[in-house]
This record gives sequence, C-alpha cells and structure tokens, in this order.
Amino acid sequence: MNNTFLNACKGNGCEHTPIWIMRQAGRYLPQYQKVRGTVDFLTLCKTPHLAAEVTIQPVDILGVDAAILFSDILIIAEAMGLGLSFHEEKGPVFSKTVRTLEAARALSIIDPLEDVPFVLETIKILKKELSNKVPLIGFAGAPFTVATYIIEGGTSKNFINTKTIMYSDSGVFNTIMQKLTDSTIKYLSAQIDAGADAVQLFDSWAGVLSPNDFATYALPYVVTVLEEIKKKGVPVIYFLNNCAGLLEKMSEIKADVFGIDWRVDMARVVSIFNGKAVLQGNLDPCLLFSDTVKIKKEAYDILKKAALTKGHIFNLGHGVLPQTPVDNVKALVDIVHQYG
Ligand code: CP3
Repeated sequence: MNNTFLNACKGNGCEHTPIWIMRQAGRYLPQYQKVRGTVDFLTLCKTPHLAAEVTIQPVDILGVDAAILFSDILIIAEAMGLGLSFHEEKGPVFSKTVRTLEAARALSIIDPLEDVPFVLETIKILKKELSNKVPLIGFAGAPFTVATYIIEGGTSKNFINTKTIMYSDSGVFNTIMQKLTDSTIKYLSAQIDAGADAVQLFDSWAGVLSPNDFATYALPYVVTVLEEIKKKGVPVIYFLNNCAGLLEKMSEIKADVFGIDWRVDMARVVSIFNGKAVLQGNLDPCLLFSDTVKIKKEAYDILKKAALTKGHIFNLGHGVLPQTPVDNVKALVDIVHQYG
C-alpha cells in the first residue's frame, strides 16, 4: 500500500509529498467521458461498479497517491427527500427549495444503509479493487455548503435566499443546519464503516460569509461533524474554499488536515496555523492550462512554503476543470513526486 497520503495526514514524514486532485475523476479524462457517455451523472453515482471504475481511472492514469470516491455532495440532500437533477448548463437543480419551517421539518435524517446503499457498495468494491494500491477518501459537503443548494434550489451567485433566512429566520436556518449536520455525521460514519480510509468535508461556499457570520452560522456545525467523525479514528480533512479571510477562525477547528484554495499564499497559511497544521493545496486549477515550466515553478513555490508546516498534501486549490489538458495534470503529479 502506498501510505504517503495517510502518513502525511498524521504529520508523519514521507519519502515524497503525496498528491491527489479534487475532482480527479471527471470530464477532463476521455476515459471518464466514455463511461459517462453511456449513463447520466446521477445514474453513474448510483451504479456501484461504474462509480468504482471511474474512481480508479485517475489512480491508474495519473499515479495520484489517493483515490476519492466518485459521488457528489448533493446525494445526501436527495436522500433527505429532495428531488435532484443535473443539467448540462445549470448544474444541479432541486425540484423544490427549502425555505419554510414546514419544508425544513420535512427533511429526513438519512439512514445510510437504507437511503444510500449504492455509496457503501461502491466503497466496498473499491476497497477490494484498490487493495495494496492507494487509500480511499470518502467525503460529504459541509452543512452550510449543502444548505445553500437546497435553499437556493441550485447553484447561486449572491446567496440572497440563504442569507435572508440565515439573518432573519433562525428557526428555519437552525432546523436545516441541524438536520444536515445529523445526516452528514451518519453519512460519513457509514462511509468509514464501509472502508473509507479518510474523509474530506467540502465547504465550497462558506467563504462567501464574513468572519463573524462564518463563526456564527457555519463553523459550529462543522465543529460538531468533525468532533463526531474524529471518534471513528480516520483522518478528517476540512476544505474551505475562499478561506483567505477566514483563516484565523479556521485555525480554531480541530481537523487533521486543512484544505486551502489558491487565493492565499501558502506562507501566510503556515504562519497563521503556527506551523502546527497539516495543509492540503493549493495550486490554481487554471495553472494547468499553462505549460510545464510555469507549472513546475508554481508547484515548487508551494512545496517550499508548505515544507515549513507539520505536513503537506499537494492538491489544487479547487477542483480540476473540465477542459484541462490531461498531460499537464500528469506532469504536475510527476513534479510533486520528484521535488516534494
Ligand atoms: O473529486 C472527485 O473526483 C470525486 C467526485 C466529486 C464530484 N463532485 C463529481 C462531479 C466530488 C468530490 C464532488 C463534490 C462537489 N459536488 C462539490 C464540492 C467541490 C467543489 O467543486 O466545490 C460541489 C459544490 C458539488 C456540486 C456539483 N456537482 C455541481 C455544482 C456540479 C455541476 C458543475 C460541474 O462541475 O459540472 C456537479 C456535477 C459533478 N460532480 C460532475 C462530477 C464529475 C460533472 C457531472 C458530469 O459528468 O456531467
């Protein structure tokens, strides 16, 4: 087993800096497109042997040091009773929004074995097929991030509905957040029981909150999820997109690893966390549209700065984009393995 990723999560030294890439299974890979050409995205997530196949693709093609379960952060919301579909242009769309106490109360707390058996089955297949290769990362969306989708009904720009409820209807907001928190704890626990070696909580949108609002409306729920999940004994990664203004608050959270987006200099993150955190990140995904000389220069800069903290897992600052040249992604993996 290539244990560099799990060793780095614990802050133990490794022979090279491990790398995996958010959204490493996806549309930039022709091999993914081929499978995806036969089924729609949600069917792919719900068909364990296909979800397992696309999970393994980047491990074989790129040589990354960890696999991440192929699924989506919104699967949990569908399991809580909301109709979900994905559209080519609009992205995820919910058939109804959750903006009233009645709708919030109607959300169910998931029973993973009943409601998302396909996720657990995919993990079981993967544990067999990945044996002695690389560890498997499970994941969920953080409560605030998933709340934005179910309140807005899909992707949003200004989050007006979410923030209106957050500021002026604490009954509705707390009910939604508490239900998402309870479901997320059950969901991640079940993924770990099924065999996930580590889990990542994706907070893609909490970075749209001011530091005070983040501390009031998002952070307490993250803390609750992490406290419960840490009892399971596997490393927990908290990825906060757009974290630059929230680093001080973020440093109060007890995660094993902190995922950092590219808008902040790694040296600043290292100093705010006082050299005591394991950090993950943080190359701009768009750098993969440049050339290998530029990619090497920027990757090296991050490696050098992150070497001054407790541990480093290389990653992009957010997911790899659909049009990214595969050769540049491969080149990045090789650069990190050579210089990290
Ligand atoms: O990282 C991996 O390789 C595992 C798979 C994974 C997907 N989504 C597959 C996916 C993971 C970890 C996610 C997480 C996810 N999903 C997040 C958090 C990370 C982030 O990007 O901020 C979010 C916000 C979502 C919600 C979501 N799913 C959106 C907004 C969209 C549409 C936009 C887009 O990128 O297409 C999706 C669809 C989605 N999720 C695709 C994939 C491969 C594309 C679907 C397709 O094949 O058509």
